[in-house]
Amino acid sequence: MESEFNTFGLKRDIAGYKTLGEQIDSLLTGETDMIANLANVSAVIHAFGQFHWVGFYLVKENELVLGPFQGPVACTRIAYGKGACGKSWKEDRTILLENVHEFADHIACSPYSNSEIVIPFHKGNEIAGVFDIDSVHLNDFSETDRTGLESIVQILEKHL
Ligand code: SME
Repeated sequence: MESEFNTFGLKRDIAGYKTLGEQIDSLLTGETDMIANLANVSAVIHAFGQFHWVGFYLVKENELVLGPFQGPVACTRIAYGKGACGKSWKEDRTILLENVHEFADHIACSPYSNSEIVIPFHKGNEIAGVFDIDSVHLNDFSETDRTGLESIVQILEKHL
């Protein structure tokens, strides 16, 4: 089956994120398997933003374990509270690092990553994991990206 999903031409502005959100909503509709949905969201956001690494870490007992992603090989396990991902999990909030090298506890999975955003996602009332995006560019994530990506996570949560 040829996919009709196409992020080409969508900009990283409010309108672009709105259209992207609608497309993701329809892409996920009818599928409730978490891994399948996380895999497709990784692929879509990777294509949309041309980001270095896009993926999910899943809460498993007392740590985060690597889930579906697009990009280079990454660390497989992150302890509670550690790194940007562990902090996002512990504090249940978005962590935006304009420059990862200025965040003392940053876990460097790739030498090419310079900025990063991590957003927690929930299944029911529980945190199920975090959505992590790395960019090769410094300061690549604006407030529009934060709002847009948080809205994408809300759409994803409807389908988990
Ligand atoms: N930088 C993250 C680790 C995950 S990788 O970026 C894929 C962190 O500090 O938690």
